[in-house]
Order: sequence, then structure tokens, then C-alpha cells
Amino acid sequence: MAEVEIKNDSKTVKVADGSLLAELDGKCSILFACKAGSCGSCKVKVVSGMENLEAPNDIEQAGLATFGGDPTERLPCVCKIKKGKVVVEY
Ligand code: FES
Repeated sequence: MAEVEIKNDSKTVKVADGSLLAELDGKCSILFACKAGSCGSCKVKVVSGMENLEAPNDIEQAGLATFGGDPTERLPCVCKIKKGKVVVEY
């Protein structure tokens, strides 16, 4: 199992290795709206563990270009965790 610590919630959520982080919806305070990488509501800053996330796909890259700009930012709705632990905040 992989885990995501959401600093704003002081909480860690376990997810299956290889899962899409849209699975966090309803399990933490990250706000998921479109779940398609197009609204920016779920944007988080990766505090540690970026190496445990898959590289952004084309959809996430397009969303980050619109709503992000900081290389530490990701869109969990379209981002997959490989394994291990990732710490995020928003
Ligand atoms: S929920 Fe819209 S970009 Fe993630």
C-alpha cells in the first residue's frame, strides 16, 4: 500500500500502489471538482515524495500549465502514485 499524508488535515490516507489519487476524494479535505485535470481545484504542493508519483501525463501537464507553474505542484485527480509515501499540502 502507498500512503498520502495531507498536511492540512494532519492525516494519512492509504491507497493501493499504482492508484489514481482521485481516490482521495471524500477521504480528505482536498477539493475535487472536475476530476479531469481541467479546473485546478485539487491542486496540491508536493512537500516530499515526488519520486513516488508517476510523471504528469499530457492532461495533467496541460492543467498544470494553466493553474500551476511551480514544479512542486500536482493535480491529484489525474496523477498516479507508484508506491511509498507522498506528503502534500494545499
Ligand atoms: S479536480 Fe479539477 S483539476 Fe483536479
